[in-house]
Amino acid sequence: MDITLTQTTNAQWTRLVEEYMQKSEPIINVHRDDKRKYNAIFVGGGAGGRFGSGYLRALGGRQLIADRWPFLGGSCPHLACVPHHLFSEAARELDLMRWFSGKLWFPDATNLRASILEVVELFKAGRGTAHAFMNWQSKEQLDLEYILNAPATVIDNHTVEVAGERFQADNLVLGTGAATAFPNIPGTELHGVYDFATLIEDLDFEPSRCVIIGGSKTAIEYGSFFQAAGCPTTIVARKPLMRTASMHHVDEDLRQYVVDGMRKRGMQILEGVEPVAIQGDGKVQQVTIRDMRDGSEQTLPCDFVFIGTGERPKSEHYREVLGVAVGEKGEILVDKHMRTSVPNVYAIGDLIGPPMEMFKARKGGVTAARNIMGESCEFDWTDYPDFLHSTYEISWVGLSEEEARQRYKNVVIIQMPPKGVPYADIPLPCAEGTMLYAFMFPELSGFQKAVVDGDTRRMLGFHHVGYGAKDAFQYLDHLMRRPGGITIDEMGSMNELFLNPEHFIQLSRLRAGSPDLRDL
Ligand SMILES: Cc1cc2nc3c(=O)[nH]c(=O)nc-3n(C[C@H](O)[C@H](O)[C@H](O)COP(=O)(O)OP(=O)(O)OC[C@H]3O[C@@H](n4cnc5c(N)ncnc54)[C@H](O)[C@@H]3O)c2cc1C
Ligand SMILES: NC(=O)c1ccc[n+]([C@@H]2O[C@H](COP(=O)([O-])OP(=O)(O)OC[C@H]3O[C@@H](n4cnc5c(N)ncnc54)[C@H](OP(=O)(O)O)[C@@H]3O)[C@@H](O)[C@H]2O)c1
Repeated sequence: MDITLTQTTNAQWTRLVEEYMQKSEPIINVHRDDKRKYNAIFVGGGAGGRFGSGYLRALGGRQLIADRWPFLGGSCPHLACVPHHLFSEAARELDLMRWFSGKLWFPDATNLRASILEVVELFKAGRGTAHAFMNWQSKEQLDLEYILNAPATVIDNHTVEVAGERFQADNLVLGTGAATAFPNIPGTELHGVYDFATLIEDLDFEPSRCVIIGGSKTAIEYGSFFQAAGCPTTIVARKPLMRTASMHHVDEDLRQYVVDGMRKRGMQILEGVEPVAIQGDGKVQQVTIRDMRDGSEQTLPCDFVFIGTGERPKSEHYREVLGVAVGEKGEILVDKHMRTSVPNVYAIGDLIGPPMEMFKARKGGVTAARNIMGESCEFDWTDYPDFLHSTYEISWVGLSEEEARQRYKNVVIIQMPPKGVPYADIPLPCAEGTMLYAFMFPELSGFQKAVVDGDTRRMLGFHHVGYGAKDAFQYLDHLMRRPGGITIDEMGSMNELFLNPEHFIQLSRLRAGSPDLRDL
């Protein structure tokens, strides 16, 4: 279907996307009357491809996106971040109901069981509006050209074949993402084994006992939801949770608070173990794991296995056709301009390896676009603010306390609850989002820490567990990265909106007057 000359509303797009999910006909939006050569073809219209295209177009260039799905935006709104946030919000609500069961106005939740299948179906029924909006916005507001519902084949570093037609461009931007790397153990094909993608597309029963393989963000986020829904969940991880290579700057006190909190909520967390096999007769019945210290094995009965073992870039096609250089895990190697080893070929997003985060995909796309349009633009993604969910929202930026102590002589810590004070004795942080907990279950009201260099007075790191503070971390990241960073004195002179979820301004003010900073 060629939609170039028609104006399609959001409601029409929702129906179209749904219809085209079931068929293989392309959706074409190409300005045939524009005789300029494309500055770039974006292979993949996910977070990276769409934002890169938008920027390139805004700079006056001409672009084309080719995507195999009938919508733009990629995996985030379809299978990944958006369902993850829906599940995490459900987990937070369910957690509150469980702690407050029979108290105040809360109903008795002793036998509360929320349907995981129902929440998955809720997501699937609603995700089309995000797809529709991105198609609509990209065409009607951003003036982008695209061909959807058609896989693209790269022919050479200037040519892409899509929907039976060859298109030429000065440059290619590869952004086709990554996919789950399933562990190489028997049984992953059994009914009842899912990853984040198949959970959305294929879940067809209500799980009653879950084993999760992996100890990083996906494992913790989905596991916390399953447990909160009332499906008893065991996480099996080779390393301590949150200590995998893809997560940096994780503060040990924060980590302990998060993992203790998961255990308090009934999750079984087995660390230092590896999966041996998933077993069952057509359907999952148990997972066998091995203790990595003594080699002993045990079986964990379950009807649901969730694979949280991370993703691998999908780079085979580009290696074969273009010969792009890749790293150990198949990630396409790029420089800070997003240039690959092949002239005129850029790569972005999950395809270039971890961190696999939206900011990196989008800014990578924009960086490629700017360089293609003649700017000299570098993107350094080695440091960034980070977050994940348990039943809490967990955000951090900058150095952990341990990292700071290795690099600085005079590290000062501002922490709530303060070091050495039993968490149950003090309802701090007492803040928006955790007020009910603070007044009834003080130890559940969260955790926060600021790390300061006592000599220069610069803020080195911020760490938070609670609700509603993630926004602040985007700006704290910017303040810390400015030349000169931000000092405790500058933090203390900012205007807080009291009560706020993270108290960093007012706590800094309590110490800022002192020439010799001390812990708080
Ligand atoms: C469970 C989960 C939760 C997450 N939550 C968050 C979060 O909360 N915040 C965050 O920042 N990050 C999150 N992420 C990471 C985030 O989703 C990714 O980093 C981001 O989507 C990557 O964008 P991308 O453009 O590189 O790839 P994608 O968005 O995956 O886009 C790739 C596009 O390429 C297309 N494609 C593939 N092959 C072809 C082909 N042959 N021809 C044409 N098109 C093709 C696909 O259809 C797709 O549209 C999460 C990831 C997971 C797995
Ligand atoms: N922002 C968000 O909220 C969010 C949410 C989800 C995902 N993401 C991003 O998406 C990417 C993937 O995240 P992820 O959490 O799925 O994976 P990940 O961070 O890559 O971690 C993979 C986990 O699986 C384990 N693992 C890997 N192979 C294994 C095997 N064969 N057997 C047993 N365990 C194995 C790893 O253990 P070892 O440490 O022992 O290797 C690790 O605990 C990351 O870049 C992440 O940042 C972001």
